[in-house]
Amino acid sequence: MDIDKVRELDHRFLFQNYGRQDLCFERGEKEFLYDLSGRRYIDLVAGIAVNSLGHSHPDIVSTICRQAGRLMHVSNLYLVREQALAAEALAGVAPAPLEKALFCNSGAEANEGALKLAVKATGRGRVVSTKNSFHGRTSVTLSATGQPKYQSGFEPLLPKVFDFIDYNSPEQLKSAVTRNTAAVILEPIQGEGGVVPASEEFIRAARDLCDERGALLIVDEVQTGMGRTGKWFGFQHYGVVPDIVTLAKALGNGMPIGALLSTPEIAASFKPGSHGTTFGGNPLAAAVARTVIEVMRRDKLVERSAELGSRWSQELRSLAVHGGAIKDVRGRGLMIGMEMGDEAKRFQEAALESGILVNVCGGRVVRMVPPLIVSEPSVRELNSTLKRFLEA
Ligand SMILES: Cc1ncc(COP(=O)(O)O)c(C=O)c1O
Repeated sequence: MDIDKVRELDHRFLFQNYGRQDLCFERGEKEFLYDLSGRRYIDLVAGIAVNSLGHSHPDIVSTICRQAGRLMHVSNLYLVREQALAAEALAGVAPAPLEKALFCNSGAEANEGALKLAVKATGRGRVVSTKNSFHGRTSVTLSATGQPKYQSGFEPLLPKVFDFIDYNSPEQLKSAVTRNTAAVILEPIQGEGGVVPASEEFIRAARDLCDERGALLIVDEVQTGMGRTGKWFGFQHYGVVPDIVTLAKALGNGMPIGALLSTPEIAASFKPGSHGTTFGGNPLAAAVARTVIEVMRRDKLVERSAELGSRWSQELRSLAVHGGAIKDVRGRGLMIGMEMGDEAKRFQEAALESGILVNVCGGRVVRMVPPLIVSEPSVRELNSTLKRFLEA
């Protein structure tokens, strides 16, 4: 089937709720994708920070085949061995006391669970979130999302329990967190908002104020987690430990799975029946999550993200001095954003012409969140494409 036929079927039979690019891929290997005509692309998007081990990783493929042939799904009415093992693996990489996991199917669901848990654990009803944040598309997570463009048209559904403050404003945090606040929810680097890292002052103030006023700190690691920023979790750059952490995306390397992590004490507020999902942590998804963690540890991919990411950001900064199209290079590890204003879309197109996929977030920032296994030649190819673009 060629792309014309896929486009026709898409327009005829699918909701048109995505602004899709006119590209269709048939297969992937490592950091490469191949379209229906066989053209190769360097994938620096990785399904938006999902395919951290790259495409068709042999360990993931064999885990899926083995587990699918054994047991794919069983209800959470029963003990699920692969889920227990995945939780043990997560506890092995998360700092104490974050040793309890609850599995679900996506980032939005992980945040839903985290917000419900915070309300249940504290008995309070308000939540502080940040402007320009992104926490998901369900009605509660959309309400927690500090970007009106996503909320427009859905207002009657949005719970009015969120107080929004400017990201990186410890002063506003101070007045927003009260004795009615169940939780503060924030991203360590705002991803969809344009790859904006939190300041040390802001995260520390969030931790201190939550402690002082009895609120819980929820860190949304859906995009930044699982080694993306050069540590297992983005909050580890700040020397704080949150009360609740949410994960999804790279946890399954493409297998839909999310999780929330918390302390035994807080987790105990959810009793049997308090929360749940049919698919969450099923044997197939959980087996993949465990393999993801094992491969990342074995191949030292968190360390690679830190090392390659900082070297690459340096190279991009030195390229940025030519021309002035790049106003800023931000991020951590292999989560890199180049602030390019109106040039961002133009560079995305130029990269695509050279067979490289990058993505634009916040309307003005070129985001690169490649597989953590991305090769040095692929990084050099992006650099030369950028250099040619800046010179032109
Ligand atoms: C920080 C953050 N939280 C939550 C989500 C929502 O995750 P999902 O699309 O899996 O529901 C995203 C998705 O981009 C995200 O970046």
